[in-house]
Amino acid sequence: MRLLKLLEVLLLLASISSFPWAAADNLSCMPTSSKVYRPHRVTVTEFGAVGDGVTLNTKAFQNAIFYLQSFADKGGAQLFVPAGRWLTGSFNLISHLTLCLDKDAVIIGSTDSSSWPVIDPLPSYGRGRELPGGRHKSLIHGSNLTDVIITGDNGTIDGQGSIWWDWFHNKTLNFTRPHLVELMYSTKVVISNLTFINSPFWTIHPVYCSNVLVRNVTILAPLDSPNTDGIDPDSANNVCIEDCYISTGDDLIAVKSGWDEYGISFAHPSSNISIRRITGETKLGAGIAFGSEMSGGVSEVWAEDIHLFNSKHGIRIKTSPGRGGYIRNIYISDVIMKNVDIAIRIQGQYGEHPDEKYDPNALPIINRITIKNVAGANIRLAGLLEGIHGDNFSNICLSNIILNVTSPHPWNCSYVEGYSNMVSPESCEPLKEIPEDSSICYPANHLKPQQSSAIRLISPFIKFIAM
Ligand SMILES: *[C@@H]1O[C@H](CO)[C@@H](O)[C@H](O)[C@H]1NC(C)=O
Ligand SMILES: *[C@@H]1O[C@H](CO)[C@@H](O)[C@H](O)[C@H]1NC(C)=O
Ligand SMILES: *[C@@H]1O[C@H](CO)[C@@H](O)[C@H](O)[C@H]1NC(C)=O
Ligand SMILES: *[C@@H]1O[C@H](CO)[C@@H](O)[C@H](O)[C@H]1NC(C)=O
Ligand SMILES: *[C@@H]1O[C@H](CO)[C@@H](O)[C@H](O)[C@H]1NC(C)=O
Ligand SMILES: *[C@@H]1O[C@H](CO)[C@@H](O)[C@H](O)[C@H]1NC(C)=O
Ligand SMILES: *[C@@H]1O[C@H](CO)[C@@H](O)[C@H](O)[C@H]1NC(C)=O
Ligand SMILES: *[C@@H]1O[C@H](CO)[C@@H](O)[C@H](O)[C@H]1NC(C)=O
Ligand SMILES: *[C@@H]1O[C@H](CO)[C@@H](O)[C@H](O)[C@H]1NC(C)=O
Ligand SMILES: *[C@@H]1O[C@H](CO)[C@@H](O)[C@H](O)[C@H]1NC(C)=O
Ligand SMILES: *[C@@H]1O[C@H](CO)[C@@H](O)[C@H](O)[C@H]1NC(C)=O
Repeated sequence: MRLLKLLEVLLLLASISSFPWAAADNLSCMPTSSKVYRPHRVTVTEFGAVGDGVTLNTKAFQNAIFYLQSFADKGGAQLFVPAGRWLTGSFNLISHLTLCLDKDAVIIGSTDSSSWPVIDPLPSYGRGRELPGGRHKSLIHGSNLTDVIITGDNGTIDGQGSIWWDWFHNKTLNFTRPHLVELMYSTKVVISNLTFINSPFWTIHPVYCSNVLVRNVTILAPLDSPNTDGIDPDSANNVCIEDCYISTGDDLIAVKSGWDEYGISFAHPSSNISIRRITGETKLGAGIAFGSEMSGGVSEVWAEDIHLFNSKHGIRIKTSPGRGGYIRNIYISDVIMKNVDIAIRIQGQYGEHPDEKYDPNALPIINRITIKNVAGANIRLAGLLEGIHGDNFSNICLSNIILNVTSPHPWNCSYVEGYSNMVSPESCEPLKEIPEDSSICYPANHLKPQQSSAIRLISPFIKFIAM
């Protein structure tokens, strides 16, 4: 009965799928580099690596990559990591490199913090995210690169984060925890066909990058592990994230762009981000998040086919006075949620500042956020939408949303303005209008859903709800 009701609604959604707010154009998620053939290949064992899980192989990785530099202008090279357990500290990638893991290869991060050297803070953050000063370098790192591929036949990259989580909990960290993979100032990056587990901090962090494709990866960390975000595009543009399963302690995907006065002056926005076919759970974070660091601006983000279960938040915007910047032209559709505490949350008073030098009058501009085609079962709150007094968040558009909500007060809205159409339970007053001119709501017309969403929405939903 319950299933039938939801299906009826979904069929209704399908029948009106020439949505007034949808349009079509192109977005290429296939950088040609994902098919790149590398004429040269070496195996990390040729450089003395031992896959016994005990020998520290940092030098072997570094030497192999140093050797491969000479092939950069000859079509590039592949570094192959065979089956085995390869303990290592941080190492740097180079341009025109494919790091390829065998099926049973596991790259394991050292539990000695000195194997993760300390590097400068990001200019858009002004300091480490957790502690003033520098930050530990990611296990796999790259800066100023082009044409880099990290892939494998579902090989694993294991950060052994639990020791870092202990240091975080017992306050014995000296510097901000490292990411598992970070690429800075890089372009044409592909990360695919791998499993990432137990990152010390955020798992995959492309920052100041463009043309990034993350596809078909699994990201796992305990649901209570601190700040183990899945994928965080940060001041990055032209990013595609698709076909991922992510189950971690914090946001599955968080689009960011720098922190307060540092992010404002660095002024590197995140733009043209496409996210689709993501499944996962997060006990403390959100499925799709924006911010809270968004001071360089975030725009043109399109997310589709998001399946979330057993999570704290579904979709969440986090910002604060002092952030400045903007989040605009966001389009999210075809979201299915089951056992989610707050389906949609907008938080204008998130707090967390790098220092006392932020400008409290630097107010973020939040505008043209469209969320449509959402079905949810066992949701506590439909929406907790809080803008900023004197800085209303505007053109928040909700369409075709049906949530089975347990709270008697499903929507709670303040300092937000916008529209809604076919929303159940009925949305809050400030969003009750139906848009006269649908172009007020962000249509995402530079990005294209590659197939009609209706069929794809229904068939996974049947599986999902039957779980
Ligand atoms: C919503 O949940 C309630 C209680 O959990 C259940 O009785 C009802 O059938 C559900 N409705 C739908 C449409 O799923
Ligand atoms: C969209 O893709 C089609 C075919 O793939 C191509 O013909 C067309 O030029 C593209 N449009 C834009 C704006 O890139
Ligand atoms: C990922 O695996 C699929 C299926 O084996 C393959 O088609 C694709 O090329 C792989 N991606 C990369 C970058 O190796
Ligand atoms: C990397 O690129 C950035 C931005 O272009 C530049 O500021 C920095 O100096 C470069 N770093 C290196 C090591 O070349
Ligand atoms: C995803 O990656 C796995 C290996 O990790 C591969 O077997 C599978 O074919 C890939 N799927 C796609 C759609 O690329
Ligand atoms: C890859 O490995 C992970 C972890 O073992 C597993 O959950 C996932 O299903 C695997 N993916 C594929 C495509 O085999
Ligand atoms: C903090 O955790 C680390 C890692 O588990 C442990 O080695 C250390 O003794 C702990 N320190 C304190 C003060 O509890
Ligand atoms: C912090 O610094 C102290 C003193 O140098 C050192 O003993 C300790 O191992 C460091 N802690 C971490 C987590 O690196
Ligand atoms: C976003 O994509 C559009 C269309 O492909 C392009 O015109 C625009 O320059 C891109 N913006 C950025 C910031 O890359
Ligand atoms: C609405 O949210 C605010 C802020 O979280 C809270 O103080 C207030 O009690 C909520 N109102 C209702 C009716 O739940
Ligand atoms: C801000 O939005 C609220 C509804 O959330 C509305 O009542 C108020 O008039 C708006 N303020 C301004 C200055 O537009």
